Amino acid sequence: MRLPSTAVLFVVCTLHFSLAHEKREICRNVPGSVGYPKAAAWSKLNATIGGRLVQVVPTAKYCASLPGAACTDAQWTSALFRSTIPGSMVDNNWEQGYDLTPPSLCLRNATTCDQGNVPIFSVEAQSAADIQAAVKFASRNNLRLVVKSSGHDVLGRSTAPSSLLIRTTGLQNISMTDTFLVGKQNMGPAVTVGSGVRTQTLYQETKKNGKIVVAPTAATVCPAGGYVQGAGHSALSPLFGLAADNVLQFNIVVASGELLQVNSISHPDLFYALRGGGAGSWGVIVSATFRTFPAFDEAFSVVEIAASSNAAMGALATVHARHIFDLDSVRAGQYFYVFAATSNTTALTLQLFTHIANRTAAQAAELLAPFRNAALALPNVSLVAEEYVVQNVNDALFTADDAAGKDMVVGSRLIPASVLRERPETVGKVYEQLLDAGALEVASFVIAGGQVTANADISSAVHPAWRTAKTHLLTGNFWTDQTPLSEIDMLRKNFQTTQLPIMEQLSGNNGAAYSNEADVNEPHFQTTFFGPNYAKLTGIKAKYDPDDLFIVGAGVGSERWDEWGLCTV
Ligand SMILES: Cc1cc2nc3c(=O)[nH]c(=O)nc-3n(C[C@H](O)[C@H](O)[C@H](O)COP(=O)(O)OP(=O)(O)OC[C@H]3O[C@@H](n4cnc5c(N)ncnc54)[C@H](O)[C@@H]3O)c2cc1C
Ligand SMILES: *[C@@H]1O[C@H](CO)[C@@H](O)[C@H](O)[C@H]1NC(C)=O
Ligand SMILES: *[C@@H]1O[C@H](CO)[C@@H](O)[C@H](O)[C@H]1NC(C)=O
Ligand SMILES: *[C@@H]1O[C@H](CO)[C@@H](O)[C@H](O)[C@H]1NC(C)=O
Ligand SMILES: *[C@@H]1O[C@H](CO)[C@@H](O)[C@H](O)[C@H]1NC(C)=O
Ligand SMILES: *[C@@H]1O[C@H](CO)[C@@H](O)[C@H](O)[C@H]1NC(C)=O
Ligand SMILES: *[C@@H]1O[C@H](CO)[C@@H](O)[C@H](O)[C@H]1NC(C)=O
Repeated sequence: MRLPSTAVLFVVCTLHFSLAHEKREICRNVPGSVGYPKAAAWSKLNATIGGRLVQVVPTAKYCASLPGAACTDAQWTSALFRSTIPGSMVDNNWEQGYDLTPPSLCLRNATTCDQGNVPIFSVEAQSAADIQAAVKFASRNNLRLVVKSSGHDVLGRSTAPSSLLIRTTGLQNISMTDTFLVGKQNMGPAVTVGSGVRTQTLYQETKKNGKIVVAPTAATVCPAGGYVQGAGHSALSPLFGLAADNVLQFNIVVASGELLQVNSISHPDLFYALRGGGAGSWGVIVSATFRTFPAFDEAFSVVEIAASSNAAMGALATVHARHIFDLDSVRAGQYFYVFAATSNTTALTLQLFTHIANRTAAQAAELLAPFRNAALALPNVSLVAEEYVVQNVNDALFTADDAAGKDMVVGSRLIPASVLRERPETVGKVYEQLLDAGALEVASFVIAGGQVTANADISSAVHPAWRTAKTHLLTGNFWTDQTPLSEIDMLRKNFQTTQLPIMEQLSGNNGAAYSNEADVNEPHFQTTFFGPNYAKLTGIKAKYDPDDLFIVGAGVGSERWDEWGLCTV
C-alpha cells in the first residue's frame, strides 16, 4: 500500500474533514495543519515539564552531528547507545518511511536525511506528571502520540511520522518488598519497576536481593513497557508462567490524563487488557509490579551443531521435536536457533540454549543426552561446541548489550503441543522448506507448556493459544541500506507470501501468534494476536481511550486508522 507523505496527507485530510458529516474521517494535526500547535504552545508544554521537550532526529542524523560526523560500528550496533537517542529504534528499518511518497529515508552516513517514520518532538519523561502533561497536550491538540521505552519493538510500534513521542526511558525506579498488598490481600514478595528499567538492571537488582522475576532473555528490553502488555515469555515461563501471569499491578496514565492504579480490584477491566491485550494500546505505563520468586542456580547449556544441507538441518529439527518433551519433568526453557549457510560458511548452524533450574552440569548433560545423541547419529551433521555451566539464574538471563542497527522484520506462529507430539516430522519438513525458500534464521522458543499451560484459568487478555502451545516459531527477513527498495518491499511481505504458508503445516490456517514478536502486517491480527478476546478488548478500549489516542500497528482499534495512525480509514 502506497500512501501520501505528510504534506500530501494534510491536503487529503482537510478534504476529509469537510466531508466529515458523510465519511466521518478524521486526521491528526501534523505540521502545516491549521490545528497544529504553534511554537508558543510547545514552549508552554516544555515549561510545564521542566524543559524536557526535545526535537527528535533519526539515528543517522544524530550520528552526523557527532565529532567525526559518524557513529562507530560499535555505537551503531549497540542497543544501549541507541537508548541515549530519543528518535532511535533498535532496528534501523523502523525509522524509515518506506511507504511514504516519495520514500522518506535517513540512512547511515548518507549526505541527505529525511525525517522518515521518526517523531517530531519527544517528552523525555522523568515523572508521572510529565506523562500526564504530554498526554493532555496530545489529546487537546489532536496529535499523533507514540510511546517508547527501549525502542526494541519488532513491529515498529514505538515510532510514527509527524508524531509526539513520550519516552519513558527515564523512569528507572526499582523497589522490592516481601509483602505486596492488593487491597488487603498480601500477594507476597514483589518488585516494582519503572517502565524505563532494562532487563539487565532488573536482574542485577533481583540478584542482589536473592530473587528472580519472569522477564525477557535479553539485556535492554523494558519488562514494564511493551513486553508485559504483549504477554511476555521467558526461559522461566515453563516454571513460573508468562510475565502477564505474574504482574500484580500497573500505574498508568490513561487518555484522560488520569494516573490510575490498576490491579485485580481497581480497574479490573483495564488490568485484564494490560495483560496480553497488546503493547501501546492502553495508556502510558509508569511502573509495573511483578511477583518475585527465590533465586536459584541453574544449569545453562549451549550446544552448537553444524549441518551440511537444508535436508540435514530439517532432520535435526525433527529429532529436536521428537525429544521436545524430554525436559518437561524439569520445566526447562529452551531456544533452538537455526542459521542458514552464509557466503562464508558452507554449513548451516543450530544453536541450542537450555536453562534448567537447580541442576548440576552433569545432570543437565544427562537430560539433554537423548536429543544430543540422536542428533549426532544423523548423517551430515557434526558437533561444533558444547558447554554446560552452573550459575545464578539472574546471570544466565542477560548479557551486556543487545545487537542493534539491523534492518529486519519477523513473522511467527505459536505451535500447539499436540502437533509436536503427533507430527514431529512435520517440524523438520517445515524447517527444510523455510530454508529452501531462503530463510536466513528460523527459531523455535520452547517457552510454553508447564506453568504457562497450568495458568489457563487466569482471566486475562493472553491469547488462549498460549495455554496449549509448546513453541513459538519465528523467522526473520533481513536487508541492508544498499538493498533496492523494490526488494525491501518484497522482503517486508515475504513472511505472508512465502513463509507463513509453510508454517501453517504446523499452526493450521487460523493459527495464533505472539503479538510482540510477529508481522505487523498480519491481515487478521484481531484473531491472530487476540483470538476470542478481541471483542472484549474493543469495549475496554472504548472506555479508557474513546478517541483512539493510543493506536499502534496491528493493535486494538488500529483497523480504524491508516498505517501511520494519522487518518482514519
Ligand atoms: C533482543 C530482543 C530480545 C527479546 N526478548 C524477548 C523475550 O525474551 N521475551 C519476550 O516475550 N519478548 C522478547 N522480545 C520482544 C519484546 O517483548 C518486544 O520487542 C517488546 O515490544 C519490547 O517492549 P519495549 O517497551 O522494550 O519496546 P518499545 O519499542 O519501547 O515499545 C514496544 C511497544 O510497547 C509500547 N510501550 C513502550 N513503553 C511503554 C509504556 N511505558 N507504556 C505503554 N506502552 C509502552 C510501545 O508503544 C510499543 O507499542 C525481545 C525483543 C528483542 C529485540
Ligand atoms: C525545552 O526547554 C529546554 C530548557 O529550557 C531547552 O533546552 C530545550 O531546547 C527546549 N525544547 C525545545 C523543543 O524547544
Ligand atoms: C559510516 O562511517 C563510519 C565512520 O566513518 C564507518 O566506520 C562506517 O563503516 C560507515 N558505515 C557505512 C555503512 O557506510
Ligand atoms: C521514584 O521514586 C522516588 C523516591 O521514592 C519518588 O519520589 C518518585 O515519585 C518515583 N518516580 C516515579 C516515576 O515513580
Ligand atoms: C548427506 O550428504 C551426502 C553427500 O553430500 C548426500 O548424498 C546425502 O543425501 C546427505 N544426506 C542427508 C540426510 O542430508
Ligand atoms: C565473510 O568474510 C569476509 C572476509 O573474511 C568478512 O569481511 C565478512 O564480514 C564475512 N561475512 C560474513 C557474513 O560473515
Ligand atoms: C530450587 O531448589 C530449592 C532448594 O531445594 C527450592 O527451594 C526451590 O524451590 C527450587 N527452585 C526451583 C525453580 O525448582
